[in-house]
Amino acid sequence: MQKVQFVETVLRDANQSLMATRLPYDKFEPILETMDKAGYYAVECWGGATFDVCLRYLNEDPWERLRKIRAKMPNTKLQMLLRGQNILGYKHYPDDVVRKFVQHAVKNGIDIIRIFDALNDPDNLKVAIEETVKCGAVASGAISYTTSPVHTLENYVKLVKELKAMGCSTICIKDMAGIMGPKEAYDLVSAIKDAVDLPVDVHTHCTTGLAFMTLLKSVEAGADIIDTATPPFSGGTSQASTDTLAYALRQLGYAVDLDDAVLKAVADYFKPVRDGFIADGTLMPKSMATDTQCLTYQVPGGMLSNLLSQLKTMNALDRLDEALAETPRVRKDLGYPPLVTPTSQMVGVQAVTNVLQGERYKKVSNEVKAYCRGEYGHTPAPIDPAVQKLILGDEKPLEGRYADTLAPAFEKTKAELGDKARSDEDVLSYIAFPQLAETFFADRQAAEEKVVKYTFEEM
Ligand code: CO
Repeated sequence: MQKVQFVETVLRDANQSLMATRLPYDKFEPILETMDKAGYYAVECWGGATFDVCLRYLNEDPWERLRKIRAKMPNTKLQMLLRGQNILGYKHYPDDVVRKFVQHAVKNGIDIIRIFDALNDPDNLKVAIEETVKCGAVASGAISYTTSPVHTLENYVKLVKELKAMGCSTICIKDMAGIMGPKEAYDLVSAIKDAVDLPVDVHTHCTTGLAFMTLLKSVEAGADIIDTATPPFSGGTSQASTDTLAYALRQLGYAVDLDDAVLKAVADYFKPVRDGFIADGTLMPKSMATDTQCLTYQVPGGMLSNLLSQLKTMNALDRLDEALAETPRVRKDLGYPPLVTPTSQMVGVQAVTNVLQGERYKKVSNEVKAYCRGEYGHTPAPIDPAVQKLILGDEKPLEGRYADTLAPAFEKTKAELGDKARSDEDVLSYIAFPQLAETFFADRQAAEEKVVKYTFEEM
């Protein structure tokens, strides 16, 4: 009997997709010990935007959060999402920083690191993968899924073989926009299963309503693991429901080792939590809805709403159709990048700018310039030479690996921070988000001084 395993995403992707990652640790702490008994393959609980949001909005130390989850869930594998050479930020970091980050993620409790790159450039994945394996954790190599003339089954299979050669022990198809249809999923999972003997995990979103069908066809093609979310945090821009898929897959004769009573307890727990976030406006009803337009335009839901708000600020909502028509042209000019952070923002902003300026590439953002210089890695197809010339002028784009041009930063930053950083983890928080970490350190210090003062006065 074919076995299907589940990654529960409520603490990371569901939280991130539905409510901008605003779930504080205290809101889910009481259910962790129960979740530990569910029988999940893993719980995705860290990385992605969680790190940034902990520091920026929740006044939480992301490392402390991880250690606390680890202590409450000793029997479940903890998974994080890592943006390859970008770690958890939006630019490339030097290799020593990537290695230190991976070492400390594992040291603080992570078992599985899912590693992806916006351009699927192996150069941006290899150091993170190598270090993950060295630390004894599972390196899950992710494909950022997209469609284009160069994103063929052959090219995906080539990437998967490289991921395996680099040390990945599982492969993830990461459909961040929910645009992978059931047939595409069936064909891709089959091709990967034919090419390598590694477990395949399928990650998608319900945004366009395809997810349940896509996951079912993935399982039929031999997918071993699927990413799902507890029912109250499922659907819409989030993952498909864990409990529903467990039910349906069992009915079809697949082995599902999940404890239904525990799943119910988890869902019962999160329902009022979700309702609280609906009541205070954090979770908007439109995030729970189905948006088939994304399939027509082949752009992620988040990108569509960014385009709309950008045009609205410019008082140019009537130019939406033109901007939507320009988006695939810009993407083609830039060598068909998958539309995921940060490339989705670059392409979207450039498309709107091209339309509103009335002349293509008259104005270009610093990010697009850096992209054309090769600072984000190698593009899936070559950038259109005419466009590249227009943007860079006589400047020569980088041929090698951008991170090779970056000087080591960890020890230097540690020395500069001195007493402000109490641990290597603090140094890493600072390197990833300097201003946020600085504020966090100062607040922490002030809070502790206050406690000391009160204790003193009580005596
Ligand atoms: Co996702």
